[in-house]
Amino acid sequence: MTTVSADLHPYDILRWYLEAGLDETMGEEPVDRYATTRRAAESRAAAAPAPAPPQQQPQRHARQPEPVMAAPGHDPSASALPGTAAHLAAGCADLQALRRAMEGFEGLPLKQAAGSTVFGDGNPEAAVMCIGEAPGQEEDRRGLPFVGPSGKLLDRMLASIGLDRATCYITNVVPWRPPANRKPTSDEVAVCMPFLTRHIELVDPQVLILLGGASAAAVLAKADGINRLRGRWFEFNSPGLPRPIPVLATFHPAYLLRTPEAKRDAWRDLLMIKRRMDSARH
Ligand code: URA
Repeated sequence: MTTVSADLHPYDILRWYLEAGLDETMGEEPVDRYATTRRAAESRAAAAPAPAPPQQQPQRHARQPEPVMAAPGHDPSASALPGTAAHLAAGCADLQALRRAMEGFEGLPLKQAAGSTVFGDGNPEAAVMCIGEAPGQEEDRRGLPFVGPSGKLLDRMLASIGLDRATCYITNVVPWRPPANRKPTSDEVAVCMPFLTRHIELVDPQVLILLGGASAAAVLAKADGINRLRGRWFEFNSPGLPRPIPVLATFHPAYLLRTPEAKRDAWRDLLMIKRRMDSARH
């Protein structure tokens, strides 16, 4: 059942569905096609002959998540220099301490140019954490992530799978607005990564959603573009986490505003997330 946040009109979600290519109503009652497919697969499996003994070197299942070996930017505090993000982040026991450490950080010129440190928004207890690239003008003005035009689309995307800012937590790789909304450089991302890694550890969500290529490349520590990284499950691991977190990358809402034809793929990604959350609940 999809819930709709108070400031989101149901037509907004219908518009998202239409733009994602869902332009036909098939019936009055929802049909769980995955359950049908599952049942068919189960009866096929029951009728099939006994499986052959496993080979000596079994192939990795194509759909298994790809692990991320270590959190990018993670530096055990012993080797991090005082004043660096790694050193400060390692000393933060909760989100309030992390916010204070980031607000007091002096190691990045971006920080001096920005109007605010955009820390996060939503519910830090939520099962889902979304990570964007960096604040834009409106976010810098209000000190909150995704409150400008792309934030409005993000709200519609989340609502289409039953999420909102009460059931989701949102932050960015870089918490300070780059001048003229340019992309953060790889050096700026590298400086901020220890803060983001600690942020993820402290929220400890069940699923991470990476919004756009910059976020995907930074968190997954991969050089591939978003077209190769999106729509696949990865795992994010870090010594400060009790277990690896499943991660899925999708297109950035700002890209979707410019490229509406990509909304179909983004919708598929959202369905993968919904399926994962539904199966975790049952
Ligand atoms: N784009 C982002 O990546 N983050 C924001 O907070 C706003 C726009």
